[in-house]
Amino acid sequence: MKHINLDMVRVTEAAAISASAWVGSGDKKAADQAATDAMRKRLDTMDFKGRVVIGEGIKDESPGLFAGEVVGDLGNPSAKVYDLAVDPIEGTRPTAHSGPEALSVLAVAEKDALFSTAEFYMNKLAYGPEIAAKTKLSITDPLSRTVDLVSKATGKDRGRILVCVLDRPRHEKLIAELRSLGVRIKLIQDCDVSAAIATCQEESGIDLLVGIGGSPEAVLAACAIKCLKGDMQTQIVRKDGGTEPRVYELHDLVRSECAFAATGITDGSLLRGVRYTTRGPVTHSVFMRSTSGTVRWFTVYHGN
Ligand code: FBP
Repeated sequence: MKHINLDMVRVTEAAAISASAWVGSGDKKAADQAATDAMRKRLDTMDFKGRVVIGEGIKDESPGLFAGEVVGDLGNPSAKVYDLAVDPIEGTRPTAHSGPEALSVLAVAEKDALFSTAEFYMNKLAYGPEIAAKTKLSITDPLSRTVDLVSKATGKDRGRILVCVLDRPRHEKLIAELRSLGVRIKLIQDCDVSAAIATCQEESGIDLLVGIGGSPEAVLAACAIKCLKGDMQTQIVRKDGGTEPRVYELHDLVRSECAFAATGITDGSLLRGVRYTTRGPVTHSVFMRSTSGTVRWFTVYHGN
């Protein structure tokens, strides 16, 4: 993974800056197109080849980078090939409607290391390194047991545990159950990649992410969680709404060392969004690598 360097951040920066022109525009498609074009252009300047395993276009028929595409140094037959997971805009709704937490995201792993599925949704359970160091949670356990294990691992009583869930009608029963358990709940409108990462940042206060969200986002989140030494489990959700019994562990979602980069598009708990000064755009990004465990935060002043 040594070959993968800070240039990844330039890719997400370019996509986020292009997307930022469409913040509040109400036009999700135009925002996605702009971010995708910028991401592709920048990816094509990288000195490795990337096969897009997790790409655009599955859930929301957004414009490519599509799964199966190869980008990067196409003219160099000896350029190493990596798996790429891309999301030029993770949070098209908050971008178009000026909501929080939209990011541009890119993850890189060894060839054939990233999981993918044709199904749109996965059931997810994500938690941070403090809990992972002390216990192993299971997505198939009753929630009451999971909450008790979290309580034991963190020393927090139930009323101090914070569980993050996408605010969707499909989670009505799940939210009611969490309420009956007496935990605190953070309901989010979008962007569960950022929420999954938040479980690995103790200062976020979020202990767990549970519930059903996008499958591509599960793999992207898995790459970040692997770098941050947290843990995650998922299950495929079929089109009829049923959940497959098979549990995909973190090492099934990403089967090699990996690197992850994200740049904020709109303001969020992880990263600030793109803003403009008289000298040009300012971006906030993070770059992490599983091999070294380094997490680098960047504030970059770009020229006009
Ligand atoms: P998009 O940017 O692709 O719209 O994804 C945003 C998102 O909120 C993801 O973070 C989440 O996993 C997924 O959508 C949830 O899907 P849905 O909105 O269909 O419930």
